[in-house]
Amino acid sequence: MAFVNMERIEKQFNNQTVLKDVSLQMNKGEIVSIIGPSGSGKSTFLRCLGQLETIDGGAITVDGITLVSTDSSGMVHYANKQTMHDLLLRMGMVFQSFNLFPHMTVLENIMVAPRMVKAMKDAEILPIAERLLNKVGLWEKRDMYPSRLSGGQQQRVAIARALAMNPEIMLFDEPTSALDPELTGEVLKTIKQLADDHMTMIIVTHEMNFAREVSDRIIFMADGVIQEEGSPEQIFTNPQSPRTKAFLENML
Ligand SMILES: Nc1ncnc2c1ncn2[C@@H]1O[C@H](COP(=O)(O)OP(=O)(O)OP(=O)(O)O)[C@@H](O)[C@H]1O
Ligand SMILES: [Mg+2]
Repeated sequence: MAFVNMERIEKQFNNQTVLKDVSLQMNKGEIVSIIGPSGSGKSTFLRCLGQLETIDGGAITVDGITLVSTDSSGMVHYANKQTMHDLLLRMGMVFQSFNLFPHMTVLENIMVAPRMVKAMKDAEILPIAERLLNKVGLWEKRDMYPSRLSGGQQQRVAIARALAMNPEIMLFDEPTSALDPELTGEVLKTIKQLADDHMTMIIVTHEMNFAREVSDRIIFMADGVIQEEGSPEQIFTNPQSPRTKAFLENML
């Protein structure tokens, strides 16, 4: 069974349809990138999975557990609070803006959620934080405040912070688009390392070369619809839909 199953998702904002019948099935260990023009619904789709938006139709299951479904009369039913919370804990999210806690050091930023949400003891969390900060190359910055770090460093802390909760899937929404070009590489390298570790990931990105390199599958979305999906090879060397072709010609 697919690890993530998003079926026929519908979403409207103020009577404007933003997602039309969008489906995604993905397995554990798979890496899916979502590309497409601005306003096509990429973030909204990701946010529906991350419980940051509610859906107006369709169904979402994760690891066989139903987050939300729609009955035959079109009524949408979300799972109970506990189930929603349990599912949320299994996902890590990283956005364009890093949203680190400014009044906490790097280390505190990483330790706070395991401490507060999972009631872990500091002695348990510390080795995890050390391993993760080493992984993203920032152990030596552990006692600094976020404002003293570059954007790329802050984003790597944000990734380590998400990983500290030991998620089974990571959702990235344009993790490098707020960064100066010279800082995107270090963040992409960190995500690439997660790919090498077979982390399950959905990545919304405008970094075409990165998407091509790291993904098992690419989804091209436009106007709230999946226009085309396939392997990076297929999408980048032999796109079928004229929309995909036009988009890629513009981007590459
Ligand atoms: N909270 C909201 N309220 C009203 N409209 C919204 C809201 N969030 C998104 N939209 C609209 O939904 C559509 C899809 O937006 P979304 O942010 O998902 O696009 P995107 O593909 O992520 O674009 P980008 O590449 O610019 O990030 C847009 O028309 C946007 O204006
Ligand atoms: Mg977006």
